[in-house]
Order: sequence, then structure tokens, then C-alpha cells
Amino acid sequence: PSTLKAAGECKGIMMGNVLRQQQIANVEHVALLAEEFNYLTPENATKWMHLQPERGVFDYGKADEIVNFAQKNKIKVKGHCLVWHSQLPQWVDDITDPDELKTVMETHIAQVMGHFKGRMYAWDVVNEAIKTDTDAGDGNPRMRKTVFQRLLGDEYIDMAFKMARKQDPDVKLYYNDYSIDANNDKADYLYEMLKGMVQRGVPIDGVGFQMHIGTPNNIATGAEVAKNMQRIADLGLEIIISEMDINLCGGRNEAWQQALYHDITLACAEQPACSAITFWGLNDGSSWLNSWEGAGCKTEKPMPLLFDNKYQKKQTYEEVINALTGR
Ligand code: G3I
Repeated sequence: PSTLKAAGECKGIMMGNVLRQQQIANVEHVALLAEEFNYLTPENATKWMHLQPERGVFDYGKADEIVNFAQKNKIKVKGHCLVWHSQLPQWVDDITDPDELKTVMETHIAQVMGHFKGRMYAWDVVNEAIKTDTDAGDGNPRMRKTVFQRLLGDEYIDMAFKMARKQDPDVKLYYNDYSIDANNDKADYLYEMLKGMVQRGVPIDGVGFQMHIGTPNNIATGAEVAKNMQRIADLGLEIIISEMDINLCGGRNEAWQQALYHDITLACAEQPACSAITFWGLNDGSSWLNSWEGAGCKTEKPMPLLFDNKYQKKQTYEEVINALTGR
């Protein structure tokens, strides 16, 4: 196979990337995107602050441009994300009445999903609800104290999925989070949470492993990823890799990065329940990590992706192809 999407097809895996509305004007960028990928996540445009910046005021302009680009190129789209504490407008954070918040959440989900109905393949319904609480001193994972959790309790997650399913019986509904791919307490906590959701009959299709490798507390091996995928598959859920990048900050080297791209891709390729791999950026120059100051990235170049600044394939690209084609 000569492209990522062709290689992915051999294993039944969609190959994804992200897009910002401003990038659509970059011909070289979008041509490569359409050539190599068949799945797309708007990097920011379908987040709450962009879609409903003020209460009752919905703005779909930028998101529509991205979805239209995808449709024109026969690329499936995952909306990201309906309920998240970050990139949430202040007016939502300021709500103090539980019933009001519940109504606001239901309205947002209904309006947004309604607008994109038939054009989205999937939605991240809840994003990053679990926090490894180093602030609390014990480092234990627990539910993040967002406005949703404080007013509605942990049940806000079940609620969001039920609201989303009510809007669309066909679209895939995912829970998405980071640092849940290795052998760690957060991955165990996630597993218990998912088990509970499945037992309660919550309409969830699967989970997105973000796979931002090299960011704090997130180093996983292929074997660890495979193990976490397997126990989630055993619950009857689907797994996607939803935001993969492996950065070189903190003195890590390219051989390590290349091997890990291979091994993690292989974990997905060997797992029948793993259905997609999305990379969080097309080329090194457009990675979010370039403006991120954690994990040594302020002083070192992250270079976390499959294409370099000039849109040339890197060895990381070849390793992903190798893993998908059994080399
Ligand atoms: O577009 C404006 C630009 O006009 C302005 O001049 C500039 C000055 O700050 O900001 C630009 O907006 C930035 C935007 O990215 C577009 O690049 C925002 O400040 C910045 O906050 C925003 O960051 C995004 C981040 O989520 C916000 O939390 C990243 O692009 C995006 O890659 C990142 O993605 C998240 C996932 O949604 C969830 N998982 C983690 C992942 C990485 O943090």
C-alpha cells in the first residue's frame, strides 16, 4: 500500500488526522491530508466555546468548512467534543443551579448533534473526565471537579451519553481521555468506570486513547497498550487511538520514537476491536506541542509526527506502514 489509509484498510483501521479551519487555505497541507487519511477530527472547531460561545448563540461557520472539506474528499468525521471542562465558555462555568446546567447540557448536545446529523461518523461525548490528582497530594485518579461533576455528580457522564444517543441512534459515541494507555492507576480507574457504564446499559460505543506520548506521566509500551485495549474489548467496547503524537522533548531520541510508533500501531492492528488511529497533527510544524511548554518542550523541538516541516515522510511514517502491513 502506498498510503496510510490504504495500509489501514488492510487491517480494517481508519487512519485519521486533524484540521484547523485556517489550514484549509494551505493547498499543500490539505492535499496531503486527503491523500493519506480517511478520517478527520476538527482540532478545535467543534469544541463548546466555538460552537456556542454565548448562551443560545450557535456559530457553525468554521466547523462547517471543515466538515464540508471532509465530505468533498470522502473523509469520515469525528466531532470533538460535546462535554469537556476546557475550551468551555465562562457562561457555562458560572452556572450554579443543577437543573439549569442539565438543561444547558441537553440543549448543547441536541443543537450541535442536530446540526451535524448525517455528517458525523462519531462524537466524543465526554472528554477527560478523570484526573490524576497530584493536587490532592495522593496522586490517585478521581473524577475531575468540573462544573458538570460538581453540580450533577459523577452521573453527568451517563447523562451525556443518554442525551447524545437520544439525538442520533447511528453515530458512534466515545469517551476520550489521556494517559489511559499504560499500566497505571488512571487506566485502571477508566476500566472500572467503563465496566460500570456497560453494566448500567449506558449507550457508549467505545473509548478513545488519546496517546499523547511523552507528555507528563505518559509513557506507554506497545505491550501495555495492547493489555489495556484487550480488557476494554472484553467489555464489548470499541477502542480508537484518537490523538496520537510521540514527542522528542526531554531528551528522547528518534529510534525510541520510531519503535514506539511501530509497536503502538501494531497493538491496534492486532486488536480486532481497535478501529481507528488518529494523529494529532499532520506535520511537525503544525503540532500543538510547538506552543506547549511542558515536559521540556519549551527548549527542545517536539517533532512528534509522521511528516516533517516540509511535508516529507519521516521514518515514523514508514514504521506505521510497517506495523500495518506486518513488517
Ligand atoms: O487561533 C488563535 C489565534 O488567533 C491566536 O492568535 C492564538 C494566540 O494564543 O491562539 C490561537 O488559538 C489557539 C488554538 O489552539 C489554535 O491553535 C488557542 O490559544 C489554544 O488554546 C488552542 O489549543 C488547543 C488546545 O487543545 C486547547 O486546549 C490545541 O490547538 C489543540 O491541539 C488541543 O487539543 C487537545 C484536545 O482537544 C484534547 N486532548 C488534548 C489535546 C492537546 O492539548
